[in-house]
Amino acid sequence: MTAVTQEAGAPFGAAPPPADAAGDAAIVTSGLTKRFRGGQIAVDTLDLAVPRGSVFGFLGPNGSGKTTTIRMLLGLVAPTTGEYSVLGLPPAHALPRVGALVEGPAFYPYLSGTANLMRFDAADPTAVRGTAGRRVADALERVGLSAAAGKRYRNYSLGMRQRLAIAAALTQPRELLILDEPTNGLDPQGTREVRTLVKEIAADGTTVFVSSHLLAEVEQMCTHAAIMRTGRLVAQGTIASLSSGLVTRVRVETPDVADAARVLGTLGLSDVRPSDGAVTAELGGHAPEAVNAALVGEGVAVRGLAVVRPSLEDVFVGLTGEGFDVDG
Ligand SMILES: Nc1ncnc2c1ncn2[C@@H]1O[C@H](COP(=O)(O)OP(=O)(O)OP(=O)(O)O)[C@@H](O)[C@H]1O
Ligand SMILES: [Mg+2]
Repeated sequence: MTAVTQEAGAPFGAAPPPADAAGDAAIVTSGLTKRFRGGQIAVDTLDLAVPRGSVFGFLGPNGSGKTTTIRMLLGLVAPTTGEYSVLGLPPAHALPRVGALVEGPAFYPYLSGTANLMRFDAADPTAVRGTAGRRVADALERVGLSAAAGKRYRNYSLGMRQRLAIAAALTQPRELLILDEPTNGLDPQGTREVRTLVKEIAADGTTVFVSSHLLAEVEQMCTHAAIMRTGRLVAQGTIASLSSGLVTRVRVETPDVADAARVLGTLGLSDVRPSDGAVTAELGGHAPEAVNAALVGEGVAVRGLAVVRPSLEDVFVGLTGEGFDVDG
């Protein structure tokens, strides 16, 4: 599965998964489509396969259909056409085993974290009343809010609010957690905290399906990703497989740009690009240490040498020919 050989409109991994694949998949969609009144197609024949145990990044620019997809998965909005299963079941049957965060739930500002979660839990018809206190305390502990459990919500920081929203999804044992942009609006510290929390939850065996419009975030947090563009799936697979078809470049920082470019060319590296204070080239099959040795051997002063692997942004640009920007 390589990303670059894909033709537009024919994303790999897009063939509808066989029925028996649903057993290993946390989410399978086939031809899932949502056309809103007024004709706009928000999600266009989407075929997703989310493996159990993955941290699956659902990546796309603003307006690319992420929230609409998640709302369909959670039964909050009906698809126009298409099929889907969650945890191998029709969504309505799976929902008690799914925790979700979509557009932060409304919490009461004057109630504490604990009191808010108790109210939240009381509204859940599948929750066992007698265990609510313990389950709420456990969920708060899970997201690192035990110390702030008695504090009023209005005094929570943004990161604490987001943790509480995730805790609300964790008051019952969940096999699948669906989080719509859980780091939205957080500062770098809060973002790091939520990312760490997602990894911890996944390490406990919960599949996490997390949307984001931040490429770097998905690269850091996720094992798999699907990339959306105006409602259509552009690519999906493991993070490594998504970029496996793209070239890795080497970047040499040096004051001897011309000499370095000549040496790289002699070595057989292609697409050598000199710029101010640095030269980059396609690494191809060359070992970076051999490139470095050759440069130094030819008297080039190497200040830095870095292997630049393709990012998910490169994947997106390579597949769509466009920058990763807001969709119309
Ligand atoms: N209720 C609605 N009625 C009409 N159009 C809608 C509705 N909800 C969403 N849309 C449109 O569907 C498209 C996809 O929206 P959606 O919210 O799913 O995108 P998103 O990927 O979640 O974006 P963001 O990153 O900004 O959250 C957008 O063009 C949006 O304007
Ligand atoms: Mg959204």
